[in-house]
Amino acid sequence: MTARSAYIHIPFCAHKCDFCDFAAFAGLDHMSEAYCRTVVQEIDRRLQDTPVKEPLKTVFYGGGTPGYIDPAHLNLIHEKLKESPGIAIDAEVTLETTPLTITEEKVHQWFEMGINRVSMGIESLQDSELKAIGRDHDSHSAIAGIKRARTAGIKNLALDLIYGLPGQTRSSWKDTLDHLLSFEPNHLSAYGLNITGSLKLHFPAGSIAYPDDDAFVDMYDVLVDGCKQAGLEQYEISNFARPGCESRHNLCYWRNDEYLAFGVGAHRYVNGVRSANLRSFNRYMRDYLCDETTETIDDERRTSDAIMLGLRLRNGLNLLQFQARYGVDLMHRFAAKLPTLTDGGFLEVSDGALRLTRKGIMVSNSVLGELI
Ligand SMILES: C[S@@+](CC[C@H](N)C(=O)[O-])C[C@H]1O[C@@H](n2cnc3c(N)ncnc32)[C@H](O)[C@@H]1O
Ligand code: SF4
Repeated sequence: MTARSAYIHIPFCAHKCDFCDFAAFAGLDHMSEAYCRTVVQEIDRRLQDTPVKEPLKTVFYGGGTPGYIDPAHLNLIHEKLKESPGIAIDAEVTLETTPLTITEEKVHQWFEMGINRVSMGIESLQDSELKAIGRDHDSHSAIAGIKRARTAGIKNLALDLIYGLPGQTRSSWKDTLDHLLSFEPNHLSAYGLNITGSLKLHFPAGSIAYPDDDAFVDMYDVLVDGCKQAGLEQYEISNFARPGCESRHNLCYWRNDEYLAFGVGAHRYVNGVRSANLRSFNRYMRDYLCDETTETIDDERRTSDAIMLGLRLRNGLNLLQFQARYGVDLMHRFAAKLPTLTDGGFLEVSDGALRLTRKGIMVSNSVLGELI
């Protein structure tokens, strides 16, 4: 098996946000030790079936809110990973948390474990927007959380924002972004609000529901320009980093590499198969090796995944490397479609790579629809 990255899903949260459709549950804290012990068993059993030969280069504790639970429980899993398959000495080890759950004491326990990157969901710094999406913090406590993280010694801090929130305007978004950038995060992710799940949002009185498409485009422009000015380089459609602080774990997804995953609802890509664990907490606890979904990835699907994921990266798809890895000449494959897309300013071919332009990013789903 080639996977050198592991995602561990920790589903516990202090509060379930109205906008969140992840496997994340509030009120189950008393189960956190039993859950972590189950994840240890899952790791054991899966690695017996498919051993990993080399130590992990990235580990990502995502959620849910891994930062919410007792670090000693999390450490049960981390010790297991250290023992087998092993964690490389220079591995990137990320933990997701929220502003309200971070404490100085926990940060020190995370450091002892080997966590070296913390990612915190801020979403917005406008109280009315945070309220509209049912977040449990306000702007004041969000800022306090960032300050606590820095004071406690977190050097590699990633922050998450969401745009396209109910009641959000270009100017309130710019305020949020500028304020957040003033804290000099090492990494920033900003995604448009995804409302495909079963969400129940509360619109502030008198607000005009969601921003329209033009406002979305405007907000994206504000994001890209603001990050650039602040020295955060855009390396993926929705991700920005100081040089050297790109998320090595997420790069593995966008580069179409294989990865392990453990925990309720976790998705993996191992030995040419994409599969996901059960999403129900109780069912996972009873049957942690059972798959909710499983899909064998044939050569054609592997190639189209690589195109879809790789075009999200600002460096795009390197033509020679693509041919060497997938045996596909992209210029030949797209010969009929490329002139329209490049003449229209949606795609460009330069420095031996095919990439989306800024105009192409705004309609990336349509461009990909043309290509795949
Ligand atoms: C799944 S949470 C896990 C980490 C932590 N619990 C938190 O809330 O920050 C990670 C991030 O996903 C993003 N997210 C969750 N639901 C989303 C949605 N419906 N649309 C856009 N982004 C979303 C938020 O930015 C959130 O901070
Ligand atoms: S956004 Fe984060 S804190 Fe909120 S419910 Fe989802 S995982 Fe939990």
